[in-house]
Amino acid sequence: MQYRESGMPDMELWETFFDPVSFLKTLELNPHTNNYLDVGSGFGTFLIPASKIISGSAIGIDVNQEYLDICSKRIGEENLQNIYLIHGDSSNEKTLETVTQYVSEVDYISLFNMLHCEEPLELLNRTAQLLNPKGKLGVIHWKSNKTPRGPTMAIRPSPRKVRDWGEQAGLTFLKTSDLSPYHFGVLFEK
Ligand SMILES: C[S@@+](CC[C@H](N)C(=O)[O-])C[C@H]1O[C@@H](n2cnc3c(N)ncnc32)[C@H](O)[C@@H]1O
Repeated sequence: MQYRESGMPDMELWETFFDPVSFLKTLELNPHTNNYLDVGSGFGTFLIPASKIISGSAIGIDVNQEYLDICSKRIGEENLQNIYLIHGDSSNEKTLETVTQYVSEVDYISLFNMLHCEEPLELLNRTAQLLNPKGKLGVIHWKSNKTPRGPTMAIRPSPRKVRDWGEQAGLTFLKTSDLSPYHFGVLFEK
C-alpha cells in the first residue's frame, strides 16, 4: 500500500527543496558508514548522493515503480555500481527481509519525508530491527510552517513527536537538526 500523501511533483521541482549532500552530512552519513538503506527512495534524491559517500552498498526500497524507473535510469547514467533497488511495500516484513539478499548488515537507515504515513511507529519499529547495533537511523521531515510542498499540516510530525516515536522503537536519540529552509532532521542510534 502506498502511504498517504506520498506522491511527489516533477523531480526537477522536488530537488529544489533540499541540499541532499549537506543534509546527509548533517545527519552523520560518512565514509565510515558501510551499508545504507533508504526507505521510500523515490527519485533517488538522497540514495544516489549517499551511495557516493558510504563505503559499501546503498539499497533503496520503493512501492512506486514509476519512481524506481526514474531512479534506475539515473543510476545507469552515472554508472553507479553499489546501488540496489527493491520494489515493494516497506510495511511488509517480506519486503524488508529482501534487504538481506543484498547486504548482511545495515549501518544506516533513512526515513526521509516518510513519517506522515499511517503507522509511523510501526515503520520505525520494523526498520530499526534491520539496523546493526550502533547503527544510525536518520529522519527528515517538512517543518510545520508554510512550505511550498509537503503533506497536510495535520499529519506532519513535529521533531518532538519523531523523537518520542524513535525512543518507543527502542532507539537512542542523538540530535535534532535544522535543515533549512523547509526541513528538520532527527538522528538516532541503535
Ligand atoms: C514524499 S516521497 C519521499 C521520497 C524520498 N524519500 C525523498 O525524500 O526524496 C515518499 C516516497 O515513499 C514511497 N512510498 C510510499 N508508500 C510506500 C510504501 N508503502 N513502501 C515503500 N515506499 C513507499 C513513495 O513512492 C515515494 O517515493
